Amino acid sequence: MKYDIKDIKLAAEGKRKIMWAAQRMPVLATIAERFSKNKTLKGLRIAACLHVTTETANLMITLKKAGADVYLCASNPLSTQDDTAASLVKDYKIPVFAIHGEDNKSYYKHLKAVLDIKPNITMDDGADLVTLLHEYKISKNNNDYTISSKGKSWDFYGSSEETTTGVIRLKAMANDKALKIPVLAVNDSYTKYMFDNRYGTGQSTIDGILRATNVLLAGKRIVACGYGWCGRGFATRAKGMGAHVIVTEVDPVRALEAAMDGFEVMPMDKAVKTGDIFVTLTGDKSVITLKHLKSMKDGAIIANAGHFNVEIEVKELEKAAKTKREVRTNVTEYTLGKRKINVLGEGRLINLAAAEGHPAEVMDMSFANQALAAEWFYQNRGKLSPKVYKLSKELDNEVATLKLKAMGVKFDKLTPAQKKYLNSWTEGT
Ligand code: NAI
Repeated sequence: MKYDIKDIKLAAEGKRKIMWAAQRMPVLATIAERFSKNKTLKGLRIAACLHVTTETANLMITLKKAGADVYLCASNPLSTQDDTAASLVKDYKIPVFAIHGEDNKSYYKHLKAVLDIKPNITMDDGADLVTLLHEYKISKNNNDYTISSKGKSWDFYGSSEETTTGVIRLKAMANDKALKIPVLAVNDSYTKYMFDNRYGTGQSTIDGILRATNVLLAGKRIVACGYGWCGRGFATRAKGMGAHVIVTEVDPVRALEAAMDGFEVMPMDKAVKTGDIFVTLTGDKSVITLKHLKSMKDGAIIANAGHFNVEIEVKELEKAAKTKREVRTNVTEYTLGKRKINVLGEGRLINLAAAEGHPAEVMDMSFANQALAAEWFYQNRGKLSPKVYKLSKELDNEVATLKLKAMGVKFDKLTPAQKKYLNSWTEGT
């Protein structure tokens, strides 16, 4: 079995952590039981480019139990847990190609390695794998897709996407008519973004900042850049810990929502002068520019929770800074003029760079959706066009119902009379 990981000897610790996460993933476990019994994905080859964490490990194990051949590479060089990778290889015989802190060259070498298995389905977190796949020859006959490379051809059914940024890239590809395969925006399932982006990013971003800095949040002026799903989750939790939270936005409806939720909303040019801690959660680039960084208070702390490390102009900062030194693990201090500012986790996803990503309870929902996505591609092969699909409302409801059941929460059902009433127009005043 081919693989490329840091050290196979780390497997024992990885296994303990994978099993700890498994206990907190009851929805995925229910799906795994069904998949395992029916061998739902028998004979399929699946290449996944996801954060190599204990929760992802449980998704990979589920897909393998369903009969699929699974290969995994990292979707971010800093999020790989080397012990998890080691256990997947040693204990579960799942090939992994990921090393924590790998450079860009090794990152792309690993993406290519998982495509070498000639996957029928791919899973992505940020759309890097799909983009690479588009460098291969993709042909379409009706709605059957064939990929060809190095004289070999194989069937392809589709690719699922985990995060907002990936979905934005894929929709842009579809608009440009550049998308040649069907993709499923797992991110757009309500049970994914509600849990993952709001509760998951909200909590784990704070976890990352605290692990990196150990600062007290109470009394700090924290600037949340972006008030989308992630931004709302983060801002609310920071406020709950006693911080004074300021929001910056470019969308008038979201800015209004932030103001109505009790946050101070102001332009970034003003926020930079007053904030102690800045966190970008937008999916956009240059949200914090070098000019902004130059205007910040001495000792300001800056972190990013958006998908790519382009939200803060770190490269420009590197060039402009007089000095640079690592003052703590994951904290780089730069001198700009007379001021010092601290960038966390090199401007990469702070919750994965300095903490452990989302809690397992959160990824349970995301990965239940991912597992159902693989089944959906298989069941619908030959029927899908090269566009961005969403999982149906029924599947969203199924995931929510399984979660409620696991939590022991019971809820009401519509009576037949209520169902009829809600679908009719005849009963009025
Ligand atoms: P969203 O689309 O719900 O929210 C993004 C918000 O940022 C929007 O309201 C938008 O108007 C705002 N925005 C865009 N440019 C801005 C600017 N220059 N200044 C201020 N606000 C700006 O997206 P969501 O779901 O909140 O995701 C945000 C990012 O976080 C994406 O890159 C996504 O992939 C990533 N993400 C990260 C996770 C993590 O584990 N750290 C988990 C889930 C998503």
